[in-house]
Amino acid sequence: MLQGKRVLLIIGGGIAAFKSLDLIRRLKERGCAVTPVLTKAGAEFVTPLSVSALAGVKVHDALFDLTSEAEMGHIELSRSADLVVVAPATADLMAKMAGGLANDLASTLLLATDKRVLIAPAMNVRMWDHPATQRNLATLRGDGVLTVGPNEGDMACGEYGPGRMAEPLEIVAAIGAALAAGPLKGKHILVTSGPTHEPIDPVRYIANRSSGAQGTAIAAALAALGAEVTFVTGPADVPPPQGVRVVRVQTAREMLEAVQAALPADAAVFAAAVADWRVASASASKIKKDGKGLPTLEFAENPDILATVSQMTDGRPGLVVGFAAETDDVIGHATAKRARKGCDWILANDVSPETGIMGGTENAVTLITAEGAEDWPRMGKDEVARRLAQRIADAITVG
Ligand code: C5P
Repeated sequence: MLQGKRVLLIIGGGIAAFKSLDLIRRLKERGCAVTPVLTKAGAEFVTPLSVSALAGVKVHDALFDLTSEAEMGHIELSRSADLVVVAPATADLMAKMAGGLANDLASTLLLATDKRVLIAPAMNVRMWDHPATQRNLATLRGDGVLTVGPNEGDMACGEYGPGRMAEPLEIVAAIGAALAAGPLKGKHILVTSGPTHEPIDPVRYIANRSSGAQGTAIAAALAALGAEVTFVTGPADVPPPQGVRVVRVQTAREMLEAVQAALPADAAVFAAAVADWRVASASASKIKKDGKGLPTLEFAENPDILATVSQMTDGRPGLVVGFAAETDDVIGHATAKRARKGCDWILANDVSPETGIMGGTENAVTLITAEGAEDWPRMGKDEVARRLAQRIADAITVG
């Protein structure tokens, strides 16, 4: 997938820079050409010699390098690649990018480029959590910058939390997804996934069982076909996929808000197991066992996100796909659900305990469209996702 592609790799000044040497190796192994740019701070962590030795080409490290300006100007350099990758992207580099500064070679290239930019942030957990960094991140995402990581874990500085740079192979995967010239390039697709948590009080909640595995696989498969994916997820067991824009929510109402904020979209896939009810008035303090009898919970109905979006009169996505998890008369119930909700397709599955589908790695689904029901053989959730992604591509890219 990366064969013959060209990446402009900007190495920022952080301890994670050593991983960028491995990243260069991994990219080269896959036939991808790497033009490295080392910031002044980056050169404190890895030497220009090791970077250029691994990349097999000269490393660019100064803005006013006259020889290189004669060979290749910084504007040309910024556009000669298929993708610009910043790894590690330090808090400082992210701030420069968000503010549009251009006071060294790296920031100038980032401002001058007309190519997509993927950043792999790496910094101390406090720096990552700082409102300034989070503000810059939101600005960059709004500008269309792609992100991979950071991961959570032990940090070189001795602290624990999000801030570790994504591993080289994760960055390779994100580069692959960003460069995929798949059939869904230029299409924006919304995917909901995971359960929602509806609070009872500050420590208790009600929820549906959902690992988020199928929704995650669908988002990854759509991204692999080149779609720009917005992934709105409740608190799932599996981590969100790389190469998608992740919006994390807790409740059904937050999920609806996030979905509406992410529109317009060319297609939307609603794989989340949204709780149908919430506690009408969640308690602000923990409900105590006070010996005066059991608490009574009053429920209120949650918004139906799939039905709300399916029935939009203005700005409805061109294709809306829902799910139906049933335990009996799967096709009958799912066909009725398709009509009731107003969506275009329903992917129905039998989740009776004897099927082992719930929480398992396989799924047996029936695709219900206006034309009727189509049984798919039992297959891995990843395979279901790839097949659905291809069907979506066929449906929304015709003509
Ligand atoms: O009505 P039911 O929950 O069985 O419908 C399942 C489909 O509806 C799934 O696609 C699910 O994501 C979606 N749904 C929703 N909002 C709700 C309930 C279900 O989007 N409140």
